[in-house]
Amino acid sequence: MKKDYKRTLITTALPYTNGPVHIGHLAGVYVPADIYARYLRLAGRDVVLIGGSDEHGVPITLKARAEGVTPQDIVDRYHKIIKDSFEGLGISFDIYSRTTSDIHGATASEFFRRLYDNDQFIEQSSEQLYDPEAKQFLADRYVTGECPHCHNPKAYGDQCEACGTSLNATDLINPKSTISGATPELRPTRHWYLPLDRWEPRLREWILEGHKEWKTNVYGQCKSWLDMGLQPRAVSRDLSWGVPVPVEGAEGKVLYVWFDAPIGYISNTKELLPDTWEQWWKSDDTRIINFIGKDNIVFHCIVFPAMLMAYGDNFQLPDNVPANEFLNLEGDKISTSRNWAVWLHEYLNDFPGKQDTLRYVLTANAPETKDNDFTWADFQARNNNELAAILGNFVNRVFVLTGNYFGGDVPAAGALTDLDRETLDEMVRLKVSLTENIETFHFREALKDAMGYARLGNKYLQECEPWKLWKAGDSERVATVLNICLQICASIAIATEPFMPFSSAKLAAALGIKDMTWNDLASADIIPAGRHIEKLEILFEKIDDEAIKAQTDRLEEIKRLNAVNAWQPAPVKPTIEMEAFEKLDLRVGTVLECERVKKANKLLVFKIDDGTGKPRTIVSGIAEHYRPEQLVGKQVIFIANLAPAKIRGIESQGMILSALNADGSLIVSAPSAKATPGAQVL
Ligand code: 2FM
Ligand code: ZN
Repeated sequence: MKKDYKRTLITTALPYTNGPVHIGHLAGVYVPADIYARYLRLAGRDVVLIGGSDEHGVPITLKARAEGVTPQDIVDRYHKIIKDSFEGLGISFDIYSRTTSDIHGATASEFFRRLYDNDQFIEQSSEQLYDPEAKQFLADRYVTGECPHCHNPKAYGDQCEACGTSLNATDLINPKSTISGATPELRPTRHWYLPLDRWEPRLREWILEGHKEWKTNVYGQCKSWLDMGLQPRAVSRDLSWGVPVPVEGAEGKVLYVWFDAPIGYISNTKELLPDTWEQWWKSDDTRIINFIGKDNIVFHCIVFPAMLMAYGDNFQLPDNVPANEFLNLEGDKISTSRNWAVWLHEYLNDFPGKQDTLRYVLTANAPETKDNDFTWADFQARNNNELAAILGNFVNRVFVLTGNYFGGDVPAAGALTDLDRETLDEMVRLKVSLTENIETFHFREALKDAMGYARLGNKYLQECEPWKLWKAGDSERVATVLNICLQICASIAIATEPFMPFSSAKLAAALGIKDMTWNDLASADIIPAGRHIEKLEILFEKIDDEAIKAQTDRLEEIKRLNAVNAWQPAPVKPTIEMEAFEKLDLRVGTVLECERVKKANKLLVFKIDDGTGKPRTIVSGIAEHYRPEQLVGKQVIFIANLAPAKIRGIESQGMILSALNADGSLIVSAPSAKATPGAQVL
């Protein structure tokens, strides 16, 4: 890690603009980057937070094609949604730009051209997949087929999402064009390759020797890539959407999206700081930190650094790449295509004013070392039991007591007791731990430290019981206790600012703090005696069950729709002879009685009129689909000659037929009109 740096450039992975951003993006990249940037600003450091949209790549063109609009329409739509929702959540970008900007096109072109002019590419013709019907080459996601590693039949031309392997389109077994469905043929085409192998020794030394402090998931992934040996990587594609390859004879070719996107960090800095951007990229005393998700590690730690090395000109390599693992939703992988996500713009709409709750929950569950899970139940519990009951409750009590006893004027502290001194010492200890945790990218632990001020405050208040002291007439001691409590409130405002800027700002304003600094954190005299403090609005309202149910119902509905979309009829069983069928005796019966089987969630026990005059007992596993009273009086079709079986001590004399639908619902089979009980079904 660089020691003597003067400025920190923080980048956040540029999200693809083929959809909005969801909680997985936020937890992995944007919330941690924002925490870090806000902390550095409070600490008085020189920092810029760079963001923007990644507007090239095949998925965008596929979406445009599916909707019958242009790729530009798609990126305009999602760039706006993404930019607005980041702003809504308080992600404090110094710039949020886009890779379709002119400045980016020019910067990416110049970058390629310099590498080209300096013989940093290998130019090579190779056989690539071509769609003879659509008359175009099929790059990346324009082709699907069977993964050669795990045999997933729906792998893409650039990656298999089932086993995570990154692929070349030509690796796929039985490839198919996603444009026309045609089987592609091989045709020769010329492309430019970045010879990563040339940079391997320098990359090895820089990462494996120089950055042992990187997170183990990041270091480990880099090591395994380097140990496998690096290969030249194509940096151009036969496509029409992207930055054109800026050399003669390259018509119809654009830069590969993973070549142009990271250059977006540079172009966005240039757009923000046209005169001084080079200082932020090429000075030895600049420190660059890339916040990304684990799927981007190889591009940020190997490919982009190799590009920067090839460019030269003292471009700085990242000092750290604190990549996170993935966040799941209610136990399932988040997926844009399956709509299995909590979308940020929808959240902001459904929970107005609750930005900090989401930021808090995503940080408390951040997938820092392993994949983690977001559940709505946990979201509600953390808001109600932690933010409202611990933090909100403490600051509220302090404001109310100060209002009641001192008319809202901050009382002066008198002589300190041992408990006061221990409390003030604990504030300093929390600061040391909090600072260390933020600086080493351990934001979950850091959040616990920040909340530690609220826990400490509650404990102190409970131990001092100023209400009892007041009744006993000891107003001097009450003044000291409330003064210390108000200083703790001020530290809460500072310590929580990186994590929960909205409530921190409200608290700071109510306490009359104008310019918060990290330096003031844990100090015993942030708020001077005599200052009149304003009324504090409730910082964290409780979230009721109804709001949570609306979200879980939405997810249930998505699950149902996904099941319907993915449903395929089961393969037909092997053919049987008529003789075999004739052995089966299917009958109509009328349900006389139906009850739940005790201590069995799935079982119902029926008494059926089967025409014999003696009710027949049948046990059936359909209790999750029907209530007993729904079936009494109805007719069903059952197997009459199935060997009897004991189920939970009840002898079942047959089986009721039913059909399982695509969405998981079940219906019992019944004659289409009233039939005679006992009638045979033929
Ligand atoms: O994985 C992604 O969403 C990419 N769009 C990230 C790009 S990061 C950077 F290099 F621009
Ligand atoms: Zn696979």
